[in-house]
Amino acid sequence: MESLEDEDRKIDYLKGGVEMILVLMGPPGCGKGTQAKKLEAKLGIPQLSTGDMLRIAVKNGTEVGRKAKKYMEEGQLVPDEIIIDVMRERLVQKDCNKGFILDGFPRTVPQGEALNKLLDEVGKKITDVINIDVADQEVIERISGRRQCVKCGATYHIVFSPSKGDHCDKCDGDVVQRGDDKEETVKERLSVYRKQTAPLIFFYRELGLLKEIEGIGDIEEIFSRICSLIKKDECCGKAS
Ligand code: AP5
Repeated sequence: MESLEDEDRKIDYLKGGVEMILVLMGPPGCGKGTQAKKLEAKLGIPQLSTGDMLRIAVKNGTEVGRKAKKYMEEGQLVPDEIIIDVMRERLVQKDCNKGFILDGFPRTVPQGEALNKLLDEVGKKITDVINIDVADQEVIERISGRRQCVKCGATYHIVFSPSKGDHCDKCDGDVVQRGDDKEETVKERLSVYRKQTAPLIFFYRELGLLKEIEGIGDIEEIFSRICSLIKKDECCGKAS
């Protein structure tokens, strides 16, 4: 088994200019956002979370936010065409030059097809798709204890990863429960996941991109599992 130091060396290698496009998949609350933020810090490429983007749009009352609000409150997916338009603009921004980590997108097979097309147009390819598998009961436990900073979006858990005080450790913002984290809405989100998002597992398996990990364990342990899956020789064939 590789040590954490080996993994660190691997990640340092990746930081040396190799482009990476990672997709993190899994049910609501499996830890996509938590792991994406850690990967962002480690790899120096941005986390693109459609959930965070939509929450900001709702807060700012933009047109996208107004359209998305009721779907999010009900635990339904926002229509594909809205999300694809948002991502079409986001993926070509300068900070995505060296790659990016997709967290919560794609979420349907049509979104997966649209992503492939958008990347084809700019001559890029997905490096790895990592599916984090967590059972429903654990999801409910994680989501019911989740708290998020209203200012910077940092995520905490009242038991597994608490903030040091009543406010955010990073920016001192208020730390609150998300509106769609009520138990009934979480159950609906899980059902939507099974029907609309789980088919993407087969989609990416067929494309030979899928890597699966068990999402049970502490946050550092899961991070180390993900790091060990990201191999330099798989980075768009550019590393040698
Ligand atoms: P989004 O924000 O993407 O929600 P989600 O996919 O349901 O995922 P979550 O943010 O709930 O969970 P996560 O997997 O990131 O887990 P986290 O790291 O926070 O989307 C929200 C809504 O926006 C959707 O319902 C939809 O309406 C809309 N939307 C977004 N993208 C869309 C798209 N592409 N198409 C259409 N609609 C879209 O962890 C959860 C908790 O567990 C935290 O408290 C954390 O501290 C804790 N935790 C993490 N890892 C561990 C661990 N290993 N052990 C113990 N606790 C842990």
